[in-house]
Amino acid sequence: MDLSPEEQSFLAGEAGPATQKAMQILEALGRIYGAERMIPVRSAQISGVSYANLGEAGLAWLAEMAAGGGKVRAFTTLNPAGMDVENYPALGIGEAFAENQRRVLAAFEQMGVVTTCSCTPYLFGNLPHFGEHVAWAESSAVCYANAVLGARTNREGGPSALAAALTGRTPAYGLHLDENRQPGLHVQVTAALEDIPDFGALGKVIGDRVQSRASQRVPFITGLANASLEELKSLCASMATFGGVGLFHIAGITPEASRFNPPVETITITRADLEGARAALTSAAPEEIDFFSLGCPHLSLPEIQRIAEGLRGKRVTREFWITTSRPIKGMADRMGYTEIIEGAGARFATDTCCVVAPIAGRFKALATDSAKACYYAAGKNQFKTRLMPFDELIREATR
Ligand code: F3S
Repeated sequence: MDLSPEEQSFLAGEAGPATQKAMQILEALGRIYGAERMIPVRSAQISGVSYANLGEAGLAWLAEMAAGGGKVRAFTTLNPAGMDVENYPALGIGEAFAENQRRVLAAFEQMGVVTTCSCTPYLFGNLPHFGEHVAWAESSAVCYANAVLGARTNREGGPSALAAALTGRTPAYGLHLDENRQPGLHVQVTAALEDIPDFGALGKVIGDRVQSRASQRVPFITGLANASLEELKSLCASMATFGGVGLFHIAGITPEASRFNPPVETITITRADLEGARAALTSAAPEEIDFFSLGCPHLSLPEIQRIAEGLRGKRVTREFWITTSRPIKGMADRMGYTEIIEGAGARFATDTCCVVAPIAGRFKALATDSAKACYYAAGKNQFKTRLMPFDELIREATR
């Protein structure tokens, strides 16, 4: 690889052992993927933050990087942690787990990472512009950055995202390069999409079909009249979960779509396909639900406003988590939404979510509007699931 003098000095250990280790990781990645050079990144977003996923080995590695003088050279935020940092006892998280989670966050903080834990960093300032290179790890956010914002990032892992943060570089391969952003599969949608579960279902259908192909292709979607930010974040989460998709284009909606014509190879997605995907994500009857959660990916402020409107003057009858980032929660506090929501008995699970929090065994059946949350609730926590429209879920939670 063609390394600049500064990159060579990182590799030689002149900026300390942590930066050296980070550069070694990136150089090895670059060699594996045939990168010719490094490119500067404007920001990083690191996954693998929950102590439940990291364990002692992961924590030891972070502590070593912090002790080795690691300091970020790009603006860096974190994925959700295993608990609400301020409100974990109310969510049933014990003190031992909390202490370990705090050690994880302290190591990141020592390295200059902004310890705001969220999968929607684009909602509070980690917002790359069109064409900007970043190194993000959360798969739904990667897809959002590439497809919706037109920024450029590969699907990083936790260590490579941290390495990019500490060096301000990433190897130039994959979705950073023009040739890999070309669409290869035309996805013609004939159904009119009605709600967020429809977008999640669409992501599952496309993801399943892309996944089953020998060579993965960038989908080019036609037939969607429009899509809100919230619908797009759900689509991104779902397509990334079911198909490992890091980039797609939607004609008339996403910024790079106008550069391309629809590819020749075409698949069609009908209302029956969407209904099939929705049914596949629903195994629980309404009366079996003992856990409601909205906010996968983390909620936007308009979504929290909508929850407050739905819960005003009511009481929830079962456990109900509202998952979002700390900055968005701060705005909800200010607007009085938190008071209404908590007054109804629902709980904010800020900084975390129903997938990364250690809640296996606590519940039997999850209701959510998120296809991704259904997938992980079943696979990771063995919960039954029910994919429900946003407002219907709020009504069901108060029945
Ligand atoms: Fe975010 Fe957790 Fe869903 S990290 S995308 S809310 S699984």
